[in-house]
Amino acid sequence: MRIIRTVDYQDMSRKAANVISAQVILKPTSVLGLATGTTPIGTYKQLAAWCAKGDVDFSQVSTYNLDEYRGLSHEDVQSYHYFMRTNFFDHININLANTHVPDGSNPDAEAACRDYDRIVAEAGYPDLQLLGIGRNGHIGFNEPGPYFSKGTHMVNLTESTIKANSRLFDSEDQVPRQAYTMGVQTIMYARSILVVANGEEKADAVYRMCYGPVDPQCPASILQLHTNCTVIADEAALSKCPRD
Ligand code: F6R
Repeated sequence: MRIIRTVDYQDMSRKAANVISAQVILKPTSVLGLATGTTPIGTYKQLAAWCAKGDVDFSQVSTYNLDEYRGLSHEDVQSYHYFMRTNFFDHININLANTHVPDGSNPDAEAACRDYDRIVAEAGYPDLQLLGIGRNGHIGFNEPGPYFSKGTHMVNLTESTIKANSRLFDSEDQVPRQAYTMGVQTIMYARSILVVANGEEKADAVYRMCYGPVDPQCPASILQLHTNCTVIADEAALSKCPRD
């Protein structure tokens, strides 16, 4: 695991955007695994700015998002489909047909998850997977539990995740209770992984991800076993980690 310490959120976002843009420059047909959440917004903004300048070209890139709330239509402003369009896809020269997010509008969980696993496998899995990390160490919507998950599956969100995500809804009651998420095994199939984290509230999770035991009680800890994983985090998120 490579750990890159940044001075602040902006520095984190710029460095993460540099890694992603290098990936796309080196391989224009890259398959990118993408995340939603507050953390990668700055990274997406930076990539959009470089794309507008002609420095990075997404026209041949395909993307596969980690997760989606179950029960939300693609047009719902709280859906991850909507998030990805408004925060990233609408601002870059990607072909929308090459962007993929689990189908939260499909109530048949088994079919939705099976179909998503199939298309991610057919794409050959991401060249680079971008991840955020939850305060409880979750990646995607893979919450702490007795074992590491495998493929795409439906999850019941934990109280702590519902609480954390409620900041983006009018009230906690409106946060969907279920989601479809790529499994931990699928995430580990990516050829490289880039985790972004900022802020003091992530410090415990970041410490456990990088230095704790590899334990499904902190799903992100499995990333220690990945052969090409980079963490880009600001001082606050790394405040519990040794400086060297
Ligand atoms: C989002 C996702 C989640 C977030 C995590 C951190 O697609 O998979 O695991 O990365 O909840 O969210 P933020 O960045 O909002 O703190």
